[in-house]
Amino acid sequence: MINTLRLTDETQAARLLQQGKLLAFPTETVFGLGADATNAGAVAAIFEAKGRPDDNPLIVHLADVDDWPMAARDMTSCARVLLSAFAPGPLTVILPKASGISDTCTAGLDSVGIRIPACHFAREILRQAKLPIAAPSANRSGRPSCTTWQAVLEDLDGRIDAVFCQNPDLVGLESTVVDCLGDVPVILRPGAVTLGDIQQHFPTASLSPQIENANAETAVRSPGLRHAHYQPRAEVRLFRDVAELEALVGTATGRTTCCWMMPLNTSWIECQDALEQAGMSRRQQTAGRQWMWCKKFNSLKDYAAGFYEFLRESDRRGADCILVHLVEDQGFAQALRDRQLRSAGAK
Ligand code: TXA
Ligand code: MG
Repeated sequence: MINTLRLTDETQAARLLQQGKLLAFPTETVFGLGADATNAGAVAAIFEAKGRPDDNPLIVHLADVDDWPMAARDMTSCARVLLSAFAPGPLTVILPKASGISDTCTAGLDSVGIRIPACHFAREILRQAKLPIAAPSANRSGRPSCTTWQAVLEDLDGRIDAVFCQNPDLVGLESTVVDCLGDVPVILRPGAVTLGDIQQHFPTASLSPQIENANAETAVRSPGLRHAHYQPRAEVRLFRDVAELEALVGTATGRTTCCWMMPLNTSWIECQDALEQAGMSRRQQTAGRQWMWCKKFNSLKDYAAGFYEFLRESDRRGADCILVHLVEDQGFAQALRDRQLRSAGAK
């Protein structure tokens, strides 16, 4: 057990990173678990603390776009265009790896993901550390990512050296990961920088088929996608509309929670009524099933920002089953949908 320090001072945080320690800190997407990417021992400690499979590479965080030579060997024209449009921001570009980055960090790959976060706490820590910082999401491997420092401690207290205790507003979903090794970008993980945003610059840019459908070839390119992700302890079941919700409500057993998003379409306002009609008013105990909690999100932005915390809170309340309204496969919703499918165990 390590005594995990609670910090709010960027200078102290940066010093710990320089000493090879593990620091969890907020970025504009989710909390990251950072360590010096040039220090193989520090990077190995990230894998150990998270219980992360060692074939899943870590992305490297930099204070400024101009710092890219600290992590990458070359800047491709594809990455240059995307960074100038979207950095700092929720974007990770895959580039050829610089020799200074530890092979442990990239899981032996000759490529590296680099990201310039927009969160001012993160940037200040990176600026003062003057190092490329490896940082996966700050959660136990396989669990939903963390959007508060309290959630980070739930997973990692006693396993990491420090956590930066500030809770800025977050996107709530991890960055868009884009393979920029070729002439045309390929999205390996959808995020707040959408396919449409990228197609403004590269009309033929595409989503990796792996995103919704296991595909052996891309599975090798983005090794992390092979492993379980974003999964709470409770079973997640997905529904697309009121009819599917009603069918699930009819079969769900045990302690159940539910979340959904209000679209403009008024038929969705009936969702709450549908629950009640099915005998599922709040906290109501019915045969073999207890309705515990339901959460309505008023916009896609709120849904994305609150989704992981909803899953975590369902676990805290001891839910057996979580009913999740699956969003559509379009724009920013694509990123949330990807996490929802994975939280339900889709590979
Ligand atoms: O928003 C984010 O990206 C957060 C914050 C903390 O920055 N970080 C994050 O890291 O989500 P992580 O490790 O949980 O996810 C990084 C993803 C993994 O799926 C990994 O497999 C992929 O990026 N990845 C990393 N390096 C890669 C590489 N060289 N080639 C292909 N995929 C790579
Ligand atoms: Mg992660």
